Amino acid sequence: FLSFPVLLLASFLAGSIPSAWIAVRLLKGQNISELGSGNPGATNVFRVAGWKAALPVFLVDFMKGFLPVFLASSGMLPRFWNLSSSTVALAAGTASVLGHVFSPWMRFRGGKGVATGAGMFTALSPPSAIVCALVFSAVLGLSRRMSLASLSAAVALPVSLFVLPRMLGETPDYAVFVFGSAISLGVFLRHRGNISKLIQGLEAPLF
Ligand code: G3P
Repeated sequence: FLSFPVLLLASFLAGSIPSAWIAVRLLKGQNISELGSGNPGATNVFRVAGWKAALPVFLVDFMKGFLPVFLASSGMLPRFWNLSSSTVALAAGTASVLGHVFSPWMRFRGGKGVATGAGMFTALSPPSAIVCALVFSAVLGLSRRMSLASLSAAVALPVSLFVLPRMLGETPDYAVFVFGSAISLGVFLRHRGNISKLIQGLEAPLF
């Protein structure tokens, strides 16, 4: 029953759960798309409802990316066609990020893919995830701009996926690197509005 297409669909649907929209609807009776930056993500939930609401939203969005990859790589699922578990894991994680970004419940205008992408790559490559988290924290601490921190982590992702294995004398996993680069590019495309605000000096600090 749990075939490859079913796993992809399940991952996409899990990714599409609009946790930020649900949290703000439940806590404030409002539509997050009409508040703050309008983005249905943990950052904007923090802006409009504080960290007690933003933290669970971040964790749910993170797990939406982490769990499909974790399950697919765990060997717990039956083997699909002739695909390796790492290929299945990459496909499931990507489906989840796409579900988050193009959520059908949000008229295909979902989030920017940072938290869900972080979950996906934490499961795929913990060392890269640690580097990205360090870069993210440093840039956030210095700039207080979440978008700049997210974009910096998105640059650190493909770089670390390529460089870290080399530093250990290993060959990078090129499939993970290619998907990491693609997700990173997607995060940049979703931050176009933030990027022009950053350039014009109009992106407000988050705290
Ligand atoms: O992860 C999203 C963050 O980088 C930017 O969110 O609401 O400031 O556009 P926002």
